[in-house]
Amino acid sequence: MLNIILFGAPGCGKGTQAARLAEHYDLYHISTGEVIRSEIARGTELGRSMEGYISRGELAPDSIVVEMVRDYMRTHADKGCIFDGFPRTTAQAEIFDKMLAEINSEVDAMIFMDVPEEELVKRILLRGKDSGRKDDASEDVIRNRIEVYRQQTAIVADHYTKQGKYSEINGLGTMDEVFERLCNVIDQKR
Ligand code: AP5
Ligand code: MG
Repeated sequence: MLNIILFGAPGCGKGTQAARLAEHYDLYHISTGEVIRSEIARGTELGRSMEGYISRGELAPDSIVVEMVRDYMRTHADKGCIFDGFPRTTAQAEIFDKMLAEINSEVDAMIFMDVPEEELVKRILLRGKDSGRKDDASEDVIRNRIEVYRQQTAIVADHYTKQGKYSEINGLGTMDEVFERLCNVIDQKR
């Protein structure tokens, strides 16, 4: 059982690497952003309630996101998981820790992927050409997402630093190079 949080600003490569790591270590992969986008695409009530936050590049309410993860864990607790884009506030992290403790589990590592802002914007603008993601379409929204990350999310690193679970890697370089750095951290935790 291995629960890994991939952490970092929008565009740092969380989704790309989470998918590869999940396959390599036989873990589940949950992206809260993907779950929200799929609710929106299916036109559910939950999706409609979150559309505004996503398109402005703001965080969805903690209570909703936490319940989405709780729901996921009901059917995905038999092996570990890569958490991509969650937890994103200290409140989410506190509830998440309790949620895992209730099923005799815990976070094993949070790994921060360090990428400079200009590279983040460049990557997201490039993807935005065909991703169809509303929050990729304008540079203003992209910069707002990065600002929201700085203001509300970056602090979550302190929460896991206090628990001795925080590591950092350089998120620049090829996808293979970044993958190898992440594996080096994870292999030390196993
Ligand atoms: P979310 O879907 O989590 O988006 P994000 O954090 O903004 O990050 P991205 O998905 O854009 O980037 P990524 O880090 O996954 O990088 P990727 O691998 O795609 O969240 C979206 C929204 O949902 C939030 O704004 C919020 O509204 C809401 N939300 C989600 N979770 C929430 C939560 N917990 N609480 C509240 N609200 C929440 O890579 C980016 C691009 O770069 C890709 O095109 C990729 O191909 C490319 N790339 C990857 N690696 C490299 C590399 N090494 N070199 C060059 N290019 C690369
Ligand atoms: Mg992503």
